[in-house]
Amino acid sequence: MKKYLSLLIYLLIITGCNHPGGRSWMIPVSIDPSDLAYTPSQMESFEARRSQVIDSLNNSFVILKSTAPCSFNRHEFRPNNYFYYLTGYEAAGSYAILSSDPQQKFTLSLPPESIRSLIYSGGALPAEEIQEQYGPDNLVSYKEARSLMDSLVQTGATIYTDRSDIAFLAKLQKMAGEDGSTQFSNIASLVDEMRVIKESMEVEKLQKACNITARALTNVMKECRPEMYEFEMEALIEGTFLEYGSAMPGFNSIVGSGPNSTILHYEPNTRLMKSGDLLLMDIGAEYAYYTADITRTIPVNGKFTPEQRSIYQLVLDAQLAAIEQMKPGKMFMDGHMAAKEVIVNGLTELGLITDPTSPWQIKFYILYPSSHFLGLDVHDVGDKGGSFAQFMEQTPLDSMKSRVLEAGMVLTIEPGLYFREKGLEQLPKIFASEADSIEIAEFIEEVRPIYEQYVNTGVRIEDDILITTRGNINLSRYAPKEIEDIEQLMK
Ligand code: GLY
Ligand code: MN
Ligand code: MN
Repeated sequence: MKKYLSLLIYLLIITGCNHPGGRSWMIPVSIDPSDLAYTPSQMESFEARRSQVIDSLNNSFVILKSTAPCSFNRHEFRPNNYFYYLTGYEAAGSYAILSSDPQQKFTLSLPPESIRSLIYSGGALPAEEIQEQYGPDNLVSYKEARSLMDSLVQTGATIYTDRSDIAFLAKLQKMAGEDGSTQFSNIASLVDEMRVIKESMEVEKLQKACNITARALTNVMKECRPEMYEFEMEALIEGTFLEYGSAMPGFNSIVGSGPNSTILHYEPNTRLMKSGDLLLMDIGAEYAYYTADITRTIPVNGKFTPEQRSIYQLVLDAQLAAIEQMKPGKMFMDGHMAAKEVIVNGLTELGLITDPTSPWQIKFYILYPSSHFLGLDVHDVGDKGGSFAQFMEQTPLDSMKSRVLEAGMVLTIEPGLYFREKGLEQLPKIFASEADSIEIAEFIEEVRPIYEQYVNTGVRIEDDILITTRGNINLSRYAPKEIEDIEQLMK
């Protein structure tokens, strides 16, 4: 696996992962969905994953369903991540059953077929093709899978399933009956650690997802003008995703201008953009079920104001300092800590922090940890060596304990600064229990004249970083983020 990762990294380097220059921003992404299909040798990776899971099954079973619950006509089909990770199979309404019985290690069911489903959805792949491509020991009908599951849940053996699929869990529990002897454990405990270290074929999908997303962002940089609506930019973004074979975004597109740039997860995308606004876009194409997660912030009229420029450059400096920390042996939160140091120093210089050792002043500006894992889920699975709350509680002097970074991990680096219109007014409420009210009032009085210059400025810069044996590769490197590059592209 390591060998493939090194080869891939080498290929990425020779195919131009260096910082692209000039106005054209050549992003190496083509309309070529052939890379959505897996080669036979890639299919062996799915088999290896199953073997690893099966090796840890001791008189227990895995039962997974391909579909997460969704309502008709509302959502496109997308397989359950655990089901997909262990099978590579994509049809709706199928089951995968893993067992340590050598004759039946991997049972896969055909999707249910009815005249109605044939008329509305077309047929599934022929059974012979499914057998050849996905290699189950037993390929069974939907009905046979249901009766096999029915008998397995009666045996009293532990069943591993995706406990976050509440509807399916409830169904299994009902099948098992009342006596409560069957334990339903979370498949996460067997698979999440495997998902943390990405294989080369996963990195390829993530790279393409990032390249499509970078293309969408540069398209917006070229087209964005005052007096356009946020949703016009959203249309351009998601249209670009589709154009390159990304079936859907990996999460709801956040396209927020002016005051909306300060709302972390703003999603309506309905405002008319004005000259002088910033536009924050936090977006990610999903490609072969792997999602990018990139944020860029641009001036709607193509030129940053001096105030926007100073906040933007501060966030960018923080982000670059954080990316420097992304190498094996460093800790998951070292990037966050480096970004924090730059931001606290910068805000102190600007007069927006009066005491750089004050935990509550820092928490007023730094709202979340700057990293999460990325993969099949946008906030991907895996132990980070601490919780969100622990990561936020640290004081500037603490050395932060978290998980040691290893080659093959992919994580985001996404510091930001957000000056909400009523931000200072909210302060006493936010910190009622952890700061003295007189101290807060004095802070507000001192900081207000400066804070007001930045109101409605929201800046986040987010990249997707692959840890390599030597350091890292920025998978989102093709999305411009230097001030001069953005302004040049927007001319
Ligand atoms: N797009 C959500 C996040 O950046 O975490
Ligand atoms: Mn994001
Ligand atoms: Mn993110």
